[in-house]
This record gives sequence, C-alpha cells and structure tokens, in this order.
Amino acid sequence: MNVFTKLTIRCMCLILLSVFASNSLNAQKGINIPHLEKRGGATQLIVDGNPFLILGGELGNSSFTSLEFMEPIWPKLKAMHLNTVLAPVYWELIEPIEGKFDFKLYDQLIAEARKHELKLVLLWFGSWKNSMSSHAPSWVKKNQDRFPRVKDNQGKSHEILTPFSEENLQADLKAFQALLKHIKEIDENENTVIMIQPENEIGMLPTARDYHPLANKKFQEKMPAEFIRYLKKNRDNLVPEMKERWAQNHYKEAGTWEDVFGKGPHTDEIFMAWYYAKFTNAIAEAGKAVYNLPMYVNAALNRPGWLPGQYPSAGPLPHLMDVWKAGAPAIDFLSPDFYFPNIEHWSDLYTRQGNPLFIPEHVFDNTVAAKAAFVFGHYEAIGFSPFSIESVTDPAKEPLGKVYSLLDQLMPVITAHHGQDKIEGVLFDQEKSEKVVKLGDYELTFKHSYTLGYEPDSKKDTWEMAGALIVQTADSEYFLAGSGVVITFKNIKNPDLNVGILKADEGKYVDNQWKVIRHLNGDQIHQGRHIRIFLNEYSIVRFELYDYE
Ligand code: DGJ
Repeated sequence: MNVFTKLTIRCMCLILLSVFASNSLNAQKGINIPHLEKRGGATQLIVDGNPFLILGGELGNSSFTSLEFMEPIWPKLKAMHLNTVLAPVYWELIEPIEGKFDFKLYDQLIAEARKHELKLVLLWFGSWKNSMSSHAPSWVKKNQDRFPRVKDNQGKSHEILTPFSEENLQADLKAFQALLKHIKEIDENENTVIMIQPENEIGMLPTARDYHPLANKKFQEKMPAEFIRYLKKNRDNLVPEMKERWAQNHYKEAGTWEDVFGKGPHTDEIFMAWYYAKFTNAIAEAGKAVYNLPMYVNAALNRPGWLPGQYPSAGPLPHLMDVWKAGAPAIDFLSPDFYFPNIEHWSDLYTRQGNPLFIPEHVFDNTVAAKAAFVFGHYEAIGFSPFSIESVTDPAKEPLGKVYSLLDQLMPVITAHHGQDKIEGVLFDQEKSEKVVKLGDYELTFKHSYTLGYEPDSKKDTWEMAGALIVQTADSEYFLAGSGVVITFKNIKNPDLNVGILKADEGKYVDNQWKVIRHLNGDQIHQGRHIRIFLNEYSIVRFELYDYE
C-alpha cells in the first residue's frame, strides 16, 4: 500500500467517524426527531430534517391488528402514493395484564411500514375512542370501583372512563408513556413514527357533562385560576363563540363554572372540556417527556343545531379551542374529522388562532382528491387522510392517488413557499364554480373546467368536485397541480395591460428535477387565452405570464 492510498484510507475513516459521531450526537440532541416549525404564518412538520406533507390515509379500526391482515393492504397504499398511514395502537393489546407490556405486534408492523417506505401516525386508542372506552384492557373494564365511569344526569353509568379519576389517569398515562418509550427505543434513528394522536374523538355522551360524584364535586368548586388567567390574558383573542359566552355573563373573573358562564348545557360542556383537556394534557406531557413527538387531538364535529350531549360534548371542537389550548398546552394542535360536507367552513374555524390544519379523517368519498389539492393549497395544511383507506377497490385508478402523486412531486416546491402568501387552493362544484386569486402582480380567475362546456359531463346537473393548488415560484411563474380548473389572468398593478402566456409546460419532477412531458400550446391553452386541466385529468402545469399593451 503506497503512502497516498494509506492517507486516503485514513481520511475516509476520519470522515466516516465524524459523520457517525455527528449523527449520534444529532440523535442524542433529538435534532432529527419529527417536530413542528413555524414558517411565516404556516406550521411545518419536519421529518428527517425536511418539511413534510402527510399524504395520508387512516386504516379502519380493526385493520392494524395482524401482519396477515395488513399484508394485502400495504401495496394498495403504495399504489395510491401515500407517504403516511394513520394506524391505531390499542391499549387492550399492549397491556393485557396491568404493568406487563407487549409491543411485539407493533414492532412487526412498524418494520413492515419501513419496508414499504411509509411513515406512521399512531392513534392512541386508550381511555377514549369515539367517546367510549371500548379499548381499555379487561383489567380496567372489570374493576369499576378502581376505574370509575361517567354517569349521566339520571345516575346511569356508561362505558366511558371518567376523566375525574386519578386512578384512570395514571393507568392511561403509564401505558401511553410506556408506548412512547418503546417507540423511542426502536425508532429514534429511523423516524418511521412521525406523530401521535392521544385518544380518539374524545366527547361526553349522552349528557353534556359527567355527573359522577367526582365530577359533581369539581363542578361545585371555584373555576380553576389557571383557566381564568388564560381568559383574562387572551380576552381580545378568544374565539368569538367563547368570548360571547363569557361576555353574556359580564366577563366574571371568579366563581363556579355556572357563576362565570351561566347555567346550561354550554357551561356543562366548557367544564367537561377543561377536564378532558387536563387529562389529555397529562398523558401527552408524560409521553413527550420520554419522546417528544408532535401530538394532536381529533374531534367528531358537532352537528349544527344539536346540543352538547346530543353530539359528543366537550371534544376539541372549534368553539372550545380556547378551553383546549388553555387546558392542554402539550397538545400541538386540534384537528377536525370530516363526515359532513362544508370542509371550508369547518377548516376556517379550525385555522383560527394559528392552529394548523391537519385532517386525520375524511370520509373516503369521491370528493377527497379535489379536497386534498385544495387544503394543501388554501390552508397550507400539514396533512390529509381519508378514513378506511384500505377499502379502495382499484388503487391504481383512484383519483386520490393521482393527486397524491402530484403533491408528492411538488412537496419541495410547496413547502419552500409556505407562509409567504404564494400558495392557494381552489375547490369547485356546480354551486361554487369561480374564485379570484391574487398572487404577486397577477389576478388569476379560476373556474371549474365545466364552465367551458367542452367536456361531455359539463351538461350534467351535478358536477363532480374539482380541486387544484397553485404555487407562485417567481414574479410571473406558477406551478398548477390538480384537476378540473381553467384560469384566466389580469395584471393587478396595471389593468390596462393584457396578460399573455409566455410559456406553458406539462411535466413532472423526477429526483427533484423538473422534466417537461409536453409543451402546451395551441388548443391546449386555447391559443394563449387560458391555462386549464380538464376534470379527471391530473397534471402539473408550469407556466409563465407576460404583459403586452
Ligand atoms: C370516526 C372515528 O374516529 C373512526 O375511528 C371511525 O369510527 C369513524 N368515525 C367512523 O367509521
């Protein structure tokens, strides 16, 4: 071996050693642990050191229970270009005997997710799953004296663990903490698990609050000073629903819950939300203390016109945002589950007070593809995830998968422009078919592509939903992705100027390099008059505008 070779080998060893040392130092410091970062007004989820969009799907409740059951599901998820699966972890399965934890099944499932290059958001089906406590282990279920349940206003018990019991809290907390500790042990360097949802759709039924004696006692006590302090400090920034409730009672600053908010189911709900939030906060804090992953809670939305208790009362609902924020600071954000229409209305409510939008569940219907493009554009969402994703019948043809493929390619472009007013999203049907978007010096009028009347189905009474996302990447350069939209342009600063299309290309990103598939001109851009993508065509179009007199 000559001197030169020896030196080269030494250098390489030194480089390898320093890479190894800095990696393990990073791991120790938790630098690569998935976390949230603010970028302008947007919140980004950072995974493996880069901003990440969750192109997700949530598994049905009983699917993540064996390797065998999951085996045919993984390829479906890959075929739909998912990058993340939302999957439950069931308390009853990890702690069948008190204090004896068994994580074997999840070790295997996490290994499978890695094999398929999928990230995981784990849903802790602990004390509550859709209000109920059906996932509590049998040693909890069978010992009602030690693990008390809620009571309704008739004194009847329900299979819902009361959040007012310290035994209940400690049992859940220990299991949740053990889970997080285990995930850290097996996953800290891989980061397959990127986020955690403690509990699932927390909410009190069939009454607005719990009437267990432990709850009644708290209800008679003075409201916690901690919550009063929050209300006073944030008086001008409370969500209007909360501010109005407090204002109706003249902004009282002391007394029982009824003294401060008046009598009625809405006060019962605020009271109950505070104690659900405190409970959830305690388990989230304990989990984060061992492994600091981002954590969020999800809500079953309240049906308009229904009273708390008729709908699951006191969950992380938009009108209770302040209660949850004050009571559960360890929870990073609140999320809506969508089984009703009107995604825009609810998402507007959820994105108040800087709460980022993450949609862990959306009914898996024929609107999800359009909505995925819309939410990543309009709300700069962290993620989107239809429920029961494995129920897809033809994954290769599934429109959601086609949109996910576009979003996946554009992820670096989208995330690089987060929080700078450079991204928008549109969502259209026959009732709402136009939206004007201002990006840079241009006003872009988006319409449903059926407004052109070119496509045969545009004659139908009901129009399929169309959705798209646009990113302004330079003064007059844009990337459009989605389906079913047509855009025309105006110059905002000088409306007398005409705006033309300088260049338009349909393309894709391969290894982060833009590759043109077809240069668009002639009929495809109506001889320079518009940019469009027909419905059920899914593509990325990069275009550049210019002005002429
Ligand atoms: C919302 C829940 O969060 C899910 O776990 C599931 O039960 C769906 N509802 C409905 O199927």
